[in-house]
Amino acid sequence: MLIEENAYLRIIESSKIKGQEDTYLKAMRYINLGYPILFFGPPGCGKTSIARHILNSLDREYLAIEAHESMTEYQIIGGFHPLSMSASKDLAEEFMYKDGVVARAIMHNKNLLIDELTRAPSSAFSSIFLLLSHGILTLEHREVILKKPDDWVLIATANFGDVGSFKLSSALKRRFIPIYVPYPKRYVEEALIRNNAPATGEKVTSAILDFAEETRRMWKEEGALPQGLSTDGVIKMARYCELLMKEGIDDRTAFADAAFHQGIVIADETDQVSIQLVNELALRLAADL
Ligand SMILES: Nc1ncnc2c1ncn2[C@@H]1O[C@H](COP(=O)(O)OP(=O)(O)O)[C@@H](O)[C@H]1O
Ligand SMILES: [Mg+2]
Repeated sequence: MLIEENAYLRIIESSKIKGQEDTYLKAMRYINLGYPILFFGPPGCGKTSIARHILNSLDREYLAIEAHESMTEYQIIGGFHPLSMSASKDLAEEFMYKDGVVARAIMHNKNLLIDELTRAPSSAFSSIFLLLSHGILTLEHREVILKKPDDWVLIATANFGDVGSFKLSSALKRRFIPIYVPYPKRYVEEALIRNNAPATGEKVTSAILDFAEETRRMWKEEGALPQGLSTDGVIKMARYCELLMKEGIDDRTAFADAAFHQGIVIADETDQVSIQLVNELALRLAADL
């Protein structure tokens, strides 16, 4: 067993991410079964932190890469790199072979985190299909075949349908176990505000949580926003409100100001209607303070 059952609780409790026990449990069970997992869900809810926390608690070290839109097989598997930057004229016309991150992980016996998988086109990952299904990695240019180490762990994260992300090919998706990382319960976020910004009053705390709940509903049920307020956003709002209140600024102004800032983060910033919707909500909640 890679992660002993009696270690589950210790790993969950030592995490800075709260209220995601179920996510942790599912992930650790699938890791124990030897499957690669893919955390997906709205941004700012702890996907990357959970992945790193699990990887940090394993004996084997890990490599991490954050995918991006111009990523290709070169960064993943490897390829020839021009030495054109070299000062030597002779070398400038030569190429050297560079291993990509997956190849390096397998060769050096390290686990792997691929963060923000859907930021890159699925084609960047075509050559790891065999690795994911049969444990074999073929390095064409080197003419070598590498075998996956025993108990090798691969965790990826993704925001499905986020603006600027690629649609995950079904071939790639089905090679992972997708695990949804949801928004946590209200009482969890309430406790997070208490811990991160203890001087935030009860009323402002409530307004922040209402703002979060309502924007999530607008996103999920009405599709009126591209996303709801993240847990990260909840903490940022509370810390900002607390700071302003300490400076003597009133609750209403502090809350509205914080909500406008986070409103831009969650609205489609190119769409006035979208921004207007969040601003109206912010003002409505501020008026009750
Ligand atoms: N459930 C949670 N408990 C505590 N902090 C959280 C939680 N969810 C998100 N955060 C905060 O949000 C930050 C961003 O989380 P991150 O792991 O980068 O999210 P994601 O990868 O889903 O975008 C974390 O560093 C943490 O401070
Ligand atoms: Mg992330």
